[in-house]
Amino acid sequence: MSEPQPIHLSDYRPPAYRVTHTELTFDLDPSATRVKARLHVERHPEREAGEPLELDGEQLALKAIAIDGQPLGDDEYALTEQGLRIERAPERFLLDTEVEIAPEANTALEGLYQSGGMFCTQCEAEGFRRITFYPDRPDVMATFSTTVIGRLDREPVLLSNGNPVERGELPNGRHFVTWEDPHPKPCYLFALVAGDLEKVEDRFTTMSGREVTLQIWVEEENLGKTDHAMASLKRAMRWDEETYGREYDLDLFMIVAVNDFNMGAMENKGLNIFNSAAVLTHPHTATDAAFQRVEGIVAHEYFHNWSGNRVTCRDWFQLSLKEGFTVFRDQTFSADTNSAPVKRIEDVSFFRTAQFAEDAGPTAHPVRPDHYIEIGNFYTLTIYEKGAEIVRMLRNLVGWEAFRRGSDLYFSRFDGQAVTIEDFVACMAEASGQDLDQFMRWYSQAGTPEIDAHGEYDYANGAYRLLLRQRTPATPGQPDKAPQHIPIRLGLVGTKSGRDLRLTLDGESLGTDGVIHLREEEQEFVFTDVEEAPVPSLARGFSAPVKLNFPYSREDLAFLQTHDSDGFNRWDAGQRLALLALDDLIAAHRNGVEKVMDPRVVEAFRELLKRETDDKAVLAEMLTLPSEAYIAEQQPLVDVDAIHAARQFVKQSLAMALRDDFLRVYQENVGDAPYAPEPEQIAARSLKNVALSYLVSIEDEEGIELARRQFEADHNMTDVRAALTLLVHSSRDELADPALRTFGEKWAHDPLVMDQWFSVQVSRPQSDALERVKFLMDHPAFSLTNPNKVRALIGAFAQNRVNFHRLDGEGYRLLADVVIELNRLNPEIASRLVTPLTRWRRFDETRQELMKGELERIREEKLSPNVYEVIEKALA
Ligand code: PHE
Ligand code: ZN
Repeated sequence: MSEPQPIHLSDYRPPAYRVTHTELTFDLDPSATRVKARLHVERHPEREAGEPLELDGEQLALKAIAIDGQPLGDDEYALTEQGLRIERAPERFLLDTEVEIAPEANTALEGLYQSGGMFCTQCEAEGFRRITFYPDRPDVMATFSTTVIGRLDREPVLLSNGNPVERGELPNGRHFVTWEDPHPKPCYLFALVAGDLEKVEDRFTTMSGREVTLQIWVEEENLGKTDHAMASLKRAMRWDEETYGREYDLDLFMIVAVNDFNMGAMENKGLNIFNSAAVLTHPHTATDAAFQRVEGIVAHEYFHNWSGNRVTCRDWFQLSLKEGFTVFRDQTFSADTNSAPVKRIEDVSFFRTAQFAEDAGPTAHPVRPDHYIEIGNFYTLTIYEKGAEIVRMLRNLVGWEAFRRGSDLYFSRFDGQAVTIEDFVACMAEASGQDLDQFMRWYSQAGTPEIDAHGEYDYANGAYRLLLRQRTPATPGQPDKAPQHIPIRLGLVGTKSGRDLRLTLDGESLGTDGVIHLREEEQEFVFTDVEEAPVPSLARGFSAPVKLNFPYSREDLAFLQTHDSDGFNRWDAGQRLALLALDDLIAAHRNGVEKVMDPRVVEAFRELLKRETDDKAVLAEMLTLPSEAYIAEQQPLVDVDAIHAARQFVKQSLAMALRDDFLRVYQENVGDAPYAPEPEQIAARSLKNVALSYLVSIEDEEGIELARRQFEADHNMTDVRAALTLLVHSSRDELADPALRTFGEKWAHDPLVMDQWFSVQVSRPQSDALERVKFLMDHPAFSLTNPNKVRALIGAFAQNRVNFHRLDGEGYRLLADVVIELNRLNPEIASRLVTPLTRWRRFDETRQELMKGELERIREEKLSPNVYEVIEKALA
């Protein structure tokens, strides 16, 4: 087999033929499903006559083929590994094909597959070609009419996109339903579900007064776990009407929960398919974080109905067109529904840990890549989250009102079309009158810009000079970078008054919280009429996806932590302060000298704990130390053991110094109101559980007892899981083991809870974590073919920094073994799972060699394009 070849954005051409209407008939069977397709095909007006018709198709057994009712002879078409080619096709014709496929053998979970007993599909990005021969590209949009035939006993429910228009019984215990989707769509939005499912139903009246039926389809035992998703869906529908003026456009909206799913969920038109983990919740089985994740994902998929479905992508290089915009939409929705500052803090801390790492690694790519081998590898944090940061910058640059006008223009101008990122940005430029040419570099340039900032207060003239220098490091294939247009929201906080000072720049007033635009490599900004010496508060709210360095003293940071008017930057100042202290301790650990805790950090925490606050959610975030992964991101070379030891030392030092405060905070936040996933309760629980984590970190007897009681009280999963994690991660195995056993037995029947049971154990810092992984891989609840299980056990272990990076290389070897097996079973999951190994350049030489060795061992295999592409990049 030849090496997989890259596809280039610059090679884009419209398809030679388009499909205007697609009629499908599925005769379902686990080992031999028959798919009949009738495509209404016509030549694309921009392409010449006489070009061949090329259809994508993989793993299909062709049974029949005809044009306008005339069966084709063997010499009239050619089958290749990638599909089917018809050299001579008329201008406009009907193409009939019939193929056979085997859903039960489909472990890749792309195309039509079985999850448990039910049939379901996943077509994005290129899964439809595993269902039938088709121009499997998003710029071919057709209306669909789909008939699904199944067994009455095994598949009483038969679903597809759109509206059901006909149903009936057939001989031999079979029946059928025909669905019609009037909205032209690319085939990646096609969906089919068939199985023994139950539904929960509700209604929604749209802003123009249309009645929509809402259904959530689940296996019977999950009927009690849909309330939150349904409520979230209705909130999202209303929010999109109120915020973006977008209304739902069919009479029926369905969500289906499936257990085997590669991603979170999929926005198929009118029939969203969800990983059960992204839709099912119950106070006893799901944590607050899971409730919030469900709300966010339900909204995300719903929002795609406009940003993705009504207006879709011309080609897969434009993926961020729908994903960046839709993530931005779901982030703002969640911020509006919950605590906005905490949502921002959570999103940014995740972003700066995971996306920055991606941008600094061998798979770094622009938000709009210009080539790829396997598009399945590009559902990344860069496309999604950095794409969302770009849209957020756009919103801030042009202001909400122009942004909304631009969004209206985009949806009306391109409704029913497949378009590009330029089309989107052009609408924003047109609606705002702004020049966004330089801004477009955010889409084409990979890597995280770094800004070195320096400030100086000129006492004599009452001026503050801010010097900014930007640089984007080289990334694979992009050695030289041009300066970005970076909006920096800032304030100058007076050191005497503790207030934001007025900002005057070039004689123009920016208020007390303004935005400056860095466009050059180096730029100086001189603020005049600055009455007192300030500490600058820079990139407020994380106003651009950059690393910003400023030589803050610890006193400056402690000052900002209490005085900054921007909640996000107050939190960030605390993080920066903790990082400085951690730096010293990491160095001390490496040099084998005694670790000494910085008293300024202790005082800063004492201050926080003392203060009466009405924002407990933010306080909980402020009391949370930077994660080991985030600390690692700041180090030139990652020393996992030193980072772990230093963080542990800080945590324990704080716990010892402030033990009574943590205990008080815990006690003040215990509540016994019935569980509700509401902001106030969530805030109290997270504050309480952060406090408890400090107490348990020093094995304080009272703290341990509180954790034990919290676990036993069994009030809700948030508290149970927090307590269980603390016990399991402490060295009190005499308490942890029985707790794990109780939990494991109680929830043996619930796969989503067992996922948590797996993760809690394999993320413990004790040195037996790896043995536990191996042991648990044989547990009856584990399965290598279920992506959630792989993530919960293997994925979680790979995040266990001290144990995954064991010096004997056993952690790496285990991961590589699993990757090799999954390469055959599920390439998409395999290529994601291998990520931690690809970051080998960040570690010491010994670990580098071990990690590289495993990558090379994987390379010996016959690789899927997915894994091939990642391994080649990692070893390049
Ligand atoms: N398009 C989905 C989303 O973001 C993600 C997805 C991609 C799901 C590919 C499955 C396969 O909402
Ligand atoms: Zn999406």
